[in-house]
Amino acid sequence: MNFIPLASPDIQDQDIQAVVDVLKTGMLVQGKKVAELEANIAAFVQSNTVTSVSNGTATMHLALVALGIGKGDEVIVPALSYVATANVVELVGATPVFVDIEIDSFNIDVSKIEAAITSKTKAIIPVHEFGLPCDITTIMKLANAHSLYVIEDAACALGASQNGQSVGTFGDFGSFSLHPRKAISSGEGGLITCQKEELTKKVQILRNHGIDIIDGKMEFVEAGFNYRMTDFQAALVNSQLERLTDTLNYKNELANCYQQEITNPKIKLPSCPNDRVHTWQTYHVLIDPSINRDELIKTLRAKGIGTNYGAQCIPDQIFYKNKYNHNSAKLFPNALRAYKEGLAIPLYEKLTRADISYIAEELNKL
Ligand SMILES: Cc1ncc(COP(=O)(O)O)c(C=O)c1O
Repeated sequence: MNFIPLASPDIQDQDIQAVVDVLKTGMLVQGKKVAELEANIAAFVQSNTVTSVSNGTATMHLALVALGIGKGDEVIVPALSYVATANVVELVGATPVFVDIEIDSFNIDVSKIEAAITSKTKAIIPVHEFGLPCDITTIMKLANAHSLYVIEDAACALGASQNGQSVGTFGDFGSFSLHPRKAISSGEGGLITCQKEELTKKVQILRNHGIDIIDGKMEFVEAGFNYRMTDFQAALVNSQLERLTDTLNYKNELANCYQQEITNPKIKLPSCPNDRVHTWQTYHVLIDPSINRDELIKTLRAKGIGTNYGAQCIPDQIFYKNKYNHNSAKLFPNALRAYKEGLAIPLYEKLTRADISYIAEELNKL
């Protein structure tokens, strides 16, 4: 029996060759290939600027620092996401204020944001969870009405859009991850989109030890980080980028197959509103509570299918529980339900329709 893992990157010979070509030049840090990647992504998502960094978490950390958010400030984040979304708020000394999600989209419940805004609120980090755009148009209206910054956590959503506009280009910053579970990957890597030259410059200075060039001379103007990407990583992504549209189209076809073939009423399937394009970074279903989700993960593994829970109810993770002790069952019931009953099942470019049918068949037996 061939094991079908939950995720597997699609690295082809030409991608490997692109990396080898860079390695042979001896240029092992940030250089021309990184600049090329930034231009390619800017064209792909229609962003004024793109900055490559060492991972997706670093993109949001840099954005918060560049916006001057820190101690005493509050930042609104969804209660369900990967922990990095809240960790970056903690990293700058600000307080994450959690808002529950909608159970149908797994995205922040826009109708609950206003009640979470206080005089200390400085920003919202909405997440395009699993690659499905949240209602970013409405969030931008809310943010503008309350003079709040928006950093879109689009870690899983390169290629997603609402009303034809790419996610990551609505807010002050957009954040993408190039981790191997994403459609294209540099191993570790991240991309920051920004529409304002001045903010971009700040981020680029912070990415590189706080270095600016003043009167032709290198000066250290900020206490910056080393969050640079290397040229061989950028070459790997540039090569995969050539087939990203095809990859996303194929993943959409596979998602449609699941949609048609999983017919078990004990499994709630994800959906995508008409005004949005989903990347299907994760195909995330909800399992009826009569089935023990964690036992199911083991059962499916024995049948050669890799699955896992999809995202964390962040306030319930040990660090956040110890620090804030929120009553998630009362405050974030949907995030808690998605955390406890959610199941991510395999969906990636190397899968065949026969693999999807096999997985659907096994799920229909439950
Ligand atoms: C929603 C979300 N935000 C942030 C991140 C962090 O990205 P990275 O692993 O590249 O740091 C991830 C990672 O998967 C994610 O899913």
